Parts: sequence; C-alpha cells; structure tokens
Amino acid sequence: MKKVRWGILGCGRIARKFAADLKLVADAELIALGARALSAAQNFASDFPAKHIHGSYEALASNPEVDVIYIATPHALHHQHTMLCLQHKKAVLCEKAFAINFKQANEMIAFAKAQNTFIMEAFWTRLLPHYIKAKQLIAEGKVGTIKYFYGEFGFKPADPVAPRLYDPALGGGALLDIGVYPVFIALDLMGKPDSIDATMTPASTGVDEQCAIRFQYKNGAIANLFCTLASNLASGGDISGTNGRIRFTHRMHGPSTQLEYYPGIVDTREVIPVERAQGNGYEYEIHHVNECLQNNLKESPVLTHEVTLLLMQTLDVIRATAGIRYVVD
Ligand SMILES: NC(=O)c1ccc[n+]([C@@H]2O[C@H](COP(=O)([O-])OP(=O)(O)OC[C@H]3O[C@@H](n4cnc5c(N)ncnc54)[C@H](OP(=O)(O)O)[C@@H]3O)[C@@H](O)[C@H]2O)c1
Repeated sequence: MKKVRWGILGCGRIARKFAADLKLVADAELIALGARALSAAQNFASDFPAKHIHGSYEALASNPEVDVIYIATPHALHHQHTMLCLQHKKAVLCEKAFAINFKQANEMIAFAKAQNTFIMEAFWTRLLPHYIKAKQLIAEGKVGTIKYFYGEFGFKPADPVAPRLYDPALGGGALLDIGVYPVFIALDLMGKPDSIDATMTPASTGVDEQCAIRFQYKNGAIANLFCTLASNLASGGDISGTNGRIRFTHRMHGPSTQLEYYPGIVDTREVIPVERAQGNGYEYEIHHVNECLQNNLKESPVLTHEVTLLLMQTLDVIRATAGIRYVVD
C-alpha cells in the first residue's frame, strides 16, 4: 500500500513523541518538518530525519509531497495553523485542545468541509486499546446504566516548565491542557450534560491552575471532573453503574493505565487484559488517520466533527462558568 506522507508542524515536545511513534506505523512516512526557525527543524531532524526540512510553516503547508500535517503547536495557534494547512488542501490531525473556543473549532471544520479536506482532533485516548475495551464492556452491559463518573488529571510541571502551560496568550491553564481528558470521557460515555457547574483557582498569570467541574443529567447521573497543574495526581477514573464499576487505575488518558472491573456490589476485582502499546500510544491515532485517508474519508467515523464540536462547546460553558477567559473570547 502507498505510504501516507506526514508532515509535522511545530517541532516541540509532543512532536518528538509523535515522530517516534510514526516509525512504528508501517504505511506512514515522516516526509517533512516545519518549524519557525530552520535550526529548530534541523535539530529535530537529527533525531527524526525527514526528506524536507522547512524553516517556516508556510513552506511545509505548501509542500506538494505532504499528504497530512500533524499540528503540534500551542492551542491558541491551532486555528491559524490549521487554516494555513487547509488553504493548501492538506489533511490535518490537530492536537488537543483543538482550538481555544467553539467559534474557532467551527471555522476550522467548516473550512475543511469547504476544501473537501480531512480534519481530525488528535484525541488519542479514544483510539487506545484500554479505552476501546472499556467501551466494549459498557456496551455489553457490564456497568449497566452509568450513574457516576469520576475522572481527574493532574501533574506538577517539572523543570524546565513549558512556558505555554501558564501563558494566557497561548491558551495556558489546566482545563485546555489536561482537563480536556476527563471532560471528553464524560461526554463520550454519558453524553451532553443537562447542567454544568465549574469553579477554578488561578495561577499567578491568571490562567486556571486547578479546575473542578460537575456534570448533572436528568436521569440522575453525575460526573465529577478535576484537573490541576499544582500537584501530581493518579489521574485515574471510575465509571460506576447499576451493574458494576470500571476503574482506570492511573493516567487513564494514556496506554500505561490498568483496566479493572468490579462486578455487582461485591468488591471483587478483575484485571482486564489489554493490548499494550508498542510506542507512546500515538501509533493508534496515526494508523487510524492513515486508514481514513487511504479510504478517502474526509472525517473520522470515530473522532467525528460532532464529537470535537461538542467538546469545544462544553469547554466554553465550563470556562464561562468558572471564569476562565482568553483574549480571543
Ligand atoms: N496528545 C498528547 O498526549 C499531548 C501531550 C502534550 C501536549 N499536547 C498538545 O500539543 C500541543 C503542543 O504541546 P507541546 O507540549 O509539544 O508544546 P511545546 O513543547 O511548547 O511546543 C510547541 C511548539 O509550537 C511551536 N510554536 C509556534 N509558535 C509558538 C509560540 N508563539 N510559542 C511557543 N511555541 C510555538 C514551537 O515549534 P517550532 O519553534 O519548532 O516551530 C514549539 O516547539 C498543545 O496543544 C498540547 O495540548 C498533546
């Protein structure tokens, strides 16, 4: 099968992990790198070689040999960089948070449709084996009606701290960086909430250092979600229902978590075996995008545009409720 030729826009931290996983996908090729400065792209290429090394995002986006571009810049720049790639009719895999707000996300997706071009949010968790397995157990009725979800993500950034995490101009703060994970899982498993409550405590720059969120549903279900940049949490999750409970022991967003099932009211634990990722776990989303492109799809059937728009709309409500504002708002 013809290889899908990938470009990476923004040669930062996550781009390195992604590039390492690209090597694991047989029909994927890293063909081009784009950085603001040529030296940054060259430095990246010393670890992850590519045929084309560009010193501007424009040069990458206009490279005719590139099929799809992975956007790995800070959230506040996703809109601008996605629009640039779409202008050149490049397929786009855009990191989370997909955009700063719903309006931007809507424009990005509308433009992709107008250009008849593929776009997907890089919500890798949705494509990881442990999460797919948990969804399968839920579909089999192992949990019953979900009544409660608790999900958290917290870490204390280690030195050198990425400036974007606290910079309001770059969309800094816990919610858009890591709170997106428990919010996504609650929406995916329980649907759009009937009411949302949220509160945050600010870091010195004004962005949310911590954010606590509660979703309520007309059927009586509740989700409690939490994110923080102030301390290291287990970052696990619990999905409880009328028939049983599923637990992600730690780092539920990533492939290192353990999946446990607690049936009925008896506190017996079953460790559910799950396929282990070969790399960092991004290989699954890379493989999925490849498949979409090879089948000429313009939208992933799994991480649909609707999923991304509901997530962004919900993040807007959470931010308005908790008082998290950015200049673009
Ligand atoms: N899926 C995941 O597991 C995961 C994990 C971490 C982060 N992320 C997401 O990935 C995105 C990037 O995060 P990161 O941790 O890789 O960030 P980072 O290390 O700070 O890198 C961001 C890159 O963006 C480029 N950039 C362009 N304009 C910039 C500006 N004005 N200020 C700073 N950087 C600028 C830079 O690349 P050049 O100088 O090379 O052009 C920089 O290296 C974020 O949206 C984040 O939420 C996802």
